[in-house]
Amino acid sequence: MYRILCFLAFTVFIHSLLSSPSFLLYRMLRWLVCGRLGPVWMWKALLLFLAIAFAGQLLGIIFNKSNVQPAARSIFSSPDAQGPSLGSCQPHTHIMFLKTHKTASSTVLNMLYRFGDEHNLRFALPLGYQLGYPLPFNAHRVKGYRGPRAIEFHIMGNHMRFNKPEVEKVMPTDTFYFSIVRDPVALAESSFAYYKEVAPAFRKAKGLGEFADDPKHFYDPRLRNNHYARNLLWFDFGLDHNANFSFALARIGEDMIRRTFKLILVSEYFDQSMILLRHAVCWPLDAVVSFSLNARQQKPSGHAQAKMPPNLSLTEEQREKLRQWNAFDWYLYKAFNKTFWEEIDKFGHTRMEKEVNLLRMRREDLARVCLRDGGKPVEAHRIRDKNIRPFQSGLVKILGYELQSGLDNVTRISCVRMIRPEIQYKDVLDSKQFPQAHGLQAQQQSQRLMVAVGGTFLKQDPPRKGIKEMGGDGVGGKTLEEGIKDWDGSHLIRTNQTLVRGNEKGRLR
Ligand SMILES: *[C@@H]1O[C@H](CO)[C@@H](O)[C@H](O)[C@H]1NC(C)=O
Ligand SMILES: *[C@@H]1O[C@H](CO)[C@@H](O)[C@H](O)[C@H]1NC(C)=O
Ligand SMILES: *[C@@H]1O[C@H](CO)[C@@H](O)[C@H](O)[C@H]1NC(C)=O
Ligand SMILES: *[C@@H]1O[C@H](CO)[C@@H](O)[C@H](O)[C@H]1NC(C)=O
Ligand SMILES: *[C@@H]1O[C@H](CO)[C@@H](O)[C@H](O)[C@H]1NC(C)=O
Repeated sequence: MYRILCFLAFTVFIHSLLSSPSFLLYRMLRWLVCGRLGPVWMWKALLLFLAIAFAGQLLGIIFNKSNVQPAARSIFSSPDAQGPSLGSCQPHTHIMFLKTHKTASSTVLNMLYRFGDEHNLRFALPLGYQLGYPLPFNAHRVKGYRGPRAIEFHIMGNHMRFNKPEVEKVMPTDTFYFSIVRDPVALAESSFAYYKEVAPAFRKAKGLGEFADDPKHFYDPRLRNNHYARNLLWFDFGLDHNANFSFALARIGEDMIRRTFKLILVSEYFDQSMILLRHAVCWPLDAVVSFSLNARQQKPSGHAQAKMPPNLSLTEEQREKLRQWNAFDWYLYKAFNKTFWEEIDKFGHTRMEKEVNLLRMRREDLARVCLRDGGKPVEAHRIRDKNIRPFQSGLVKILGYELQSGLDNVTRISCVRMIRPEIQYKDVLDSKQFPQAHGLQAQQQSQRLMVAVGGTFLKQDPPRKGIKEMGGDGVGGKTLEEGIKDWDGSHLIRTNQTLVRGNEKGRLR
């Protein structure tokens, strides 16, 4: 911009010097130096020289000015932030992400939160922390919903069980739908570790291997929370996860998904996924650079929780049994993995490799600037700032990051966005979109987080009736405890007391 301005100013200046009115100046100079010294071309050359010097100075001032702004020095405004050219596309701002469980989807949601936050887009936020999961999504679960497309929502990405007609009431017609899948065996490991105490089918098994050997022995389809134990992807897409497998049925589900979702990412190829996503939605590189959020600690730490970590080891035979048990998910995974690689064929393998390398370099650069110890994940209880401390649940430890100290404000704000956990980020966006409703609520929420981090909680389905969300009609300590949610938004209850009641009430669903 300033280059164009300078060029214009320079041209006008020269032009005016050499045109007739400024000829006066030329004559004046001639007069001052007394008499006819040298030929006319020499004078013209002198004036030209002056003009260039003047323009140069002007340019210098502007350059210096832009150097003074602190924003220009932040790593987030370096040219690397944009990444390789996207062509002439316009960034998509109507986005629906189906956040499947245990698939690295929290990291994707963080990107959507960041992008929407930076561009002041409106989110279709849940009343609590998830959009009615595990019940099929209903538009009225969206905070501020006022009837079909009465309000323009830009981004929807919290946990839900997909239900297209209801989603279409909320999101505009030109919405870009995408989601992410993961190998069902890896997904089962993660799900078992995370929902061991929550899903009755898992609770009864000593280890995942034992479960895999004879899933039917442990599994009762009527028990609530057992959807975590069978075809969880298929369930999240809104399909019947207890149906008997047939290719015909699987293909119907696949077609339904293909009709709606323009891109299905694969969490085993996360970086390639981010490049395809970035080109599909026309977003800058920085928008898809992330630090892994909500990762579970692999080895036990010996600290705090007395329980043993669940036994996840599997024989090859047991892996195969898990694929059969999760036949719909295995079918989906193979189908969309194939499509994914076909997309990369179209994109070009060398081009993909180049962009993935840039993405990884950028991630390292940002980690070096933003994170303490270059981004080594730390246990939650070591993170002093509760605004960036991840939520803990069940038997596994969820890791987080510490922020580098001494950052300038612009950089710090961008860094915090990248590591702010899901729950806290939802609260931040909520208070941005509904400023009037906050205040007292914010106070309650920070108390709630501290309570939650201190204790062990189990998961409970969304309330049938009664229990209102935080900041709803309920006030006081009771709501504070009963309203506590897991990182993915499901209700959490204290282990020692309320669990009994939860079981009595909701054995069957
Ligand atoms: C873990 O599970 C595997 C497979 O079921 C079993 O062979 C192994 O003995 C178990 N390990 C422990 C420490 O229980
Ligand atoms: C699956 O098949 C079995 C026997 O083939 C049948 O008893 C059962 O009802 C079927 N389940 C469903 C959900 O259709
Ligand atoms: C996914 O696709 C890649 C590339 O074609 C292939 O190597 C891999 O085996 C596939 N995985 C599955 C589970 O089909
Ligand atoms: C940076 O933020 C702090 C507090 O958040 C504020 O006191 C300070 O004035 C800010 N500095 C600049 C240069 O904006
Ligand atoms: C449940 O545990 C908390 C702390 O872990 C304790 O303060 C509370 O008294 C316990 N409640 C019951 C009924 O045991």
